Amino acid sequence: MSASDLSRRPVVVVETAKALRDAVGAARRSGLKIGLTPTMGALHAGHQSLMHAARSECGFVVATIFVNPTQFGPHEDFHRYPRDLARDLAACEAAGVDLVFHPPVAAMYPADHATFVEVAGLSNLWEGKSRPGHFRGVATVVLKLLNLVTPDIAYFGQKDFQQQAIIRRMCRNLDLPVEIRVCPIVRDADGLALSSRNVYLSAEDRAAALALSRCLQVAAGMVGGGETDLALVRRAMRKELAASPRVEPDYATLVDPETLEEVDDCPLRLAAIVAARVGTTRLIDNLLIDRCPPCAQS
Ligand code: PAJ
Repeated sequence: MSASDLSRRPVVVVETAKALRDAVGAARRSGLKIGLTPTMGALHAGHQSLMHAARSECGFVVATIFVNPTQFGPHEDFHRYPRDLARDLAACEAAGVDLVFHPPVAAMYPADHATFVEVAGLSNLWEGKSRPGHFRGVATVVLKLLNLVTPDIAYFGQKDFQQQAIIRRMCRNLDLPVEIRVCPIVRDADGLALSSRNVYLSAEDRAAALALSRCLQVAAGMVGGGETDLALVRRAMRKELAASPRVEPDYATLVDPETLEEVDDCPLRLAAIVAARVGTTRLIDNLLIDRCPPCAQS
């Protein structure tokens, strides 16, 4: 069967752990490698890029669509988070997903649910500061999904930079038998990173939101051009954000890609990360910056 035939197979939807385990078990017994792409739905080309990556490496691709209540704060958008299952299933099918797991909240979190996972330290920086408890909810649901699906490879986006670092650390710390793949950020042509929350942006907000990717480009340009004074780079990033009155910056800085601690020396690889509120919507973006070794030595 060719890859294009595979992508035309109708997607199967299951809602229970038993049906999920039965389907994955059958795929594994027939020798297929299992790939997992966890999502909260409201799917766009960024999510589909993970599904395509899974499709290219795995014989059986599972996507999960679950708006996970434990990662939302009490005043966040859990209830208004965009939900459109029919549209999402079409997107999964177009990306060649074999099976969608779409459990009800009560099945993932029955009344006696009392166990949470926390990746200490990493979870309290940056997004964790603005969203207390967020990464505890993310780590918990991702561990549950990994346990339910038992994939060989699980796919996450670099878009959520801190999230992928936390998940990689959790898997390493807990000796989980899964490979984690981190896929590049998919952007609109003008540079805005695709996000399910972009639908909340008015036309004016959307134009203003470009300040985030511009501020990352400023950092990449300066560091790529040999600037070693990272305090100067940070100031330039913040200035770029401040130039847009609709943008209310949270942070814009340069960090070590593994520890997420701010860096002041010039490592070979660093991550520029930014978060800001635009209108009522909180947006995040990031860019990995590699310094060429000769600059790094200067
Ligand atoms: P969600 O926001 O739906 O994102 C699902 C996956 O898609 C994440 O790994 C995210 O980084 C990736 N993604 C989102 N936008 C992307 C883009 N523009 N380019 C590339 N990848 C992109 O992240 C979550 O859901 C949840 O926290 C979850 C991991 C599912 C746990 O509930």
